[in-house]
Amino acid sequence: MIGFNKPYLTGTEFKYIEQAIALQNISGNGVFTKKCQSFFEKKYNFSKCLLTHSATAALEMAAILADIKPGDEVILPSYTFVSTANAFLLRGATLIFCDSNENDPNIDVSHLKSLITGKTKAVVIVHYAGVGCDMDAILSLVNERNILLIEDAAQAIDSYYKKRPLGSFGHFAAFSFHETKNLISGEGGMLVINDNRFIQRAEIIWEKGTNRASFYRKEVSKYCWVDIGSSFLPSELTAAFLFAQLEALDLIQQRRRDLWNLYYKLLYPLKEAGKIKLPPIDIENYGNAHIFYTITENISQRDALLLHLEQNGVQAIFHYLALHKSPYFQSINSLQPSLRNAEHFEETLIRLPLYYELTENQIIYISNQIIQFYNR
Ligand SMILES: Cc1ncc(COP(=O)(O)O)c(C=O)c1O
Repeated sequence: MIGFNKPYLTGTEFKYIEQAIALQNISGNGVFTKKCQSFFEKKYNFSKCLLTHSATAALEMAAILADIKPGDEVILPSYTFVSTANAFLLRGATLIFCDSNENDPNIDVSHLKSLITGKTKAVVIVHYAGVGCDMDAILSLVNERNILLIEDAAQAIDSYYKKRPLGSFGHFAAFSFHETKNLISGEGGMLVINDNRFIQRAEIIWEKGTNRASFYRKEVSKYCWVDIGSSFLPSELTAAFLFAQLEALDLIQQRRRDLWNLYYKLLYPLKEAGKIKLPPIDIENYGNAHIFYTITENISQRDALLLHLEQNGVQAIFHYLALHKSPYFQSINSLQPSLRNAEHFEETLIRLPLYYELTENQIIYISNQIIQFYNR
């Protein structure tokens, strides 16, 4: 069986974990946490990075920082993971679901524009598959109206839009290092704060509502409870693991891009024949090869293709179930109109295996199975 995902270990994870243990500081915000944060700040020119347990935690921090209150509207795509929505709902936001583009799952900016009201407090965008949303159009929409922008960049580490890293556009951005992502630490994530006005409060929320970060920097003589917050820091063991991955970032990304390109080349004839759709390629929008997906014609073809792959030893998957149609959202808002493109991707998108240790021969095999399915 060719599995859908295999977490890649660079080989230095244990060495750094041992170092963290030897330093006798294995809780959070120690040497390895700082090394990881400054790596990202330097490499991508992010103003401030804070490691978290997950992208979910980073989104929850962003929702607190955005000061979301009951009655505030937050616009977000429906075709996304539940955490994009939960983080804001937990603060009492009214969720306004936006459709995807017709040709890719990213947010449809013209629909987004039509959803903005006087109550819109924040817009959350998701860079699906690590491919940037239409940032020029989105920035001009939110900046004109003074709306906070949050990038759910869970899938988008080391991706670029017009040479600028994703995660550097929003007031806040959330990244994930879950074991299915390009860079991993088991569970793990990071909040990026690009607007300096929010940095001090972000550190407080991160440190359970205390000014402990200032205390460590000897800016205050004792630390105390100054705001709301929670336990958002990962342990040093997680940060040490992540640091090993960061050292191999270029290697990992190059390998994934090579594998992604091979899929594209092998499946291109099927796309040309009109049998499947492939992700759009835009050289200005330089993705990180996080996901390779194909779009089938309809749900029955998708299920048949998934079954064919499974019967031939390939584990491919579909995701997400559009959130506006989810049982939970329907229970709180039964008047939600349908969102054509989000529903289409829910029914037709297939993710193929893509991970560092996947071989070229395995990709040739998987692609041949897909070609065989369409030629039979
Ligand atoms: C778009 C998106 N947002 C948020 C998350 C949550 O990430 P995490 O598992 O790190 O909390 C995911 C997870 O896959 C995701 O795909």
